[in-house]
Amino acid sequence: MANTKSIHGEWSSRFAYILAATGSAVGLGNIWKFPYITGENGGGAFVLVYLGCVVAIGIPIMMAETLMGRRGRQSPINTLGTLATEAGANKNWHYLGWMGVIAGILILSYYSVIAGWAIAYVFKAIFGGFSSDSVVIKQVFDDLIANPKQLVFWHTVFMVATMSVVMRGVKGGLEKAVQFLMPALLALLVLLVGYAMTTGDAYFQGLSFLFSPDFSEIDSDAVLTAMGHAFFTLGLGMGAIMVYGSYLPSNVSITRTSMYIAGADTIVALLAGIAIFPLVFANGLEPGSGPGLIFQTLPIAFGNMTGGWLFGVLFFVLLVFAALTSSISLVEPVVAWMVENKGFSRVKASVISGFVIWLLGVCVALSFNIWSEFKIFDKTIFNFLDDLTAKVMLPIGGFCIAVFAGWIMQQKHVREELDLPDAQFEIWRFLACYVAPGSVFIVFLHVLGVF
Ligand code: PFF
Repeated sequence: MANTKSIHGEWSSRFAYILAATGSAVGLGNIWKFPYITGENGGGAFVLVYLGCVVAIGIPIMMAETLMGRRGRQSPINTLGTLATEAGANKNWHYLGWMGVIAGILILSYYSVIAGWAIAYVFKAIFGGFSSDSVVIKQVFDDLIANPKQLVFWHTVFMVATMSVVMRGVKGGLEKAVQFLMPALLALLVLLVGYAMTTGDAYFQGLSFLFSPDFSEIDSDAVLTAMGHAFFTLGLGMGAIMVYGSYLPSNVSITRTSMYIAGADTIVALLAGIAIFPLVFANGLEPGSGPGLIFQTLPIAFGNMTGGWLFGVLFFVLLVFAALTSSISLVEPVVAWMVENKGFSRVKASVISGFVIWLLGVCVALSFNIWSEFKIFDKTIFNFLDDLTAKVMLPIGGFCIAVFAGWIMQQKHVREELDLPDAQFEIWRFLACYVAPGSVFIVFLHVLGVF
């Protein structure tokens, strides 16, 4: 194994890395996005395709991305440049790092706006804004997103929080932020699942929606959405895990940690689904009602249960923290690059990148209200950025990462990093060389109507 270290520091332990990488993976994607896209795409069959993508594409690419980061030990742009040189390949591979940096910036611009909704809901919970009436709850949500000032304000609060953690660097900022959050979030989700069980028939309706596949609901766009979501939820395809991998001590097993991270991420998403869909059915709501889904369902649960006030506050606080541990990984690639190549301090790099992302985020916030008629390719700014990143940039990034680790890097180096017995190494190679890139390619061809 290459016994090198990153100039930005290193995780203090294997556990610290698992927490941080799980923090990057578990976020709004699991609790906010997974339920609503599952609702929009008909349930069970979509969930199955998504799970298949996590196993066959996500885990091998996560391993590829981590091993590349650990071998390169720099921001994704420079890591790709270094590794390409080491492999005697074309230097242009570093543009893949650039695509990742840009994807991170675009994702965070809308991610922060949604995280802002969650912060707004912390205050709604504190001041008793939740009720058991689904009509009132829907109105609360509609009023929030119709209000540009509030959206911009909460988005600003979230961006400031993100950049202040990032400024503090690997150990000081990133590690500390995730230590208590994950277990607490899991506990609250389990509580919500417990509440969902009290909805009687609706509980079983919810489970059956999530787990009985009806493949007639699935078209090629749904498959692309599921695949794109596998990248998004695991935080793959844009260098976030690569940059975290670059801070990974040399003796940690990449395979095992990747499995833990993907496992934890999947459990959180499924728990969120199990908590939410019974509420959807119990209250006669529409599963496909879009990005507002959790904001229109969970407050009903909190409005109904004893102690719901406290749990509501706690839940949204934890959701904001989960978003924060993801958002810091979205900007880390560009911040690390600015420090390496521009000689900026972490503080300066954070302020500059944070400002650009904030500005873009303001446009996203306005796309929910006063700019809702402004369309790019027939989509609002929010929908356009979401589709562009999750359905195009991350899968293309993931495809190239798999190709790079599987075909371009010297397999001797890959072997050193993965440190697996031969048979297991061959399985990984098969997935990274053929299955993962092949699946992305086929899904793209299908969506483009080639067959
Ligand atoms: N995985 C995060 C979530 O599910 O909320 C979002 C994310 C983080 C996407 C890091 C991409 C990324 F590189």
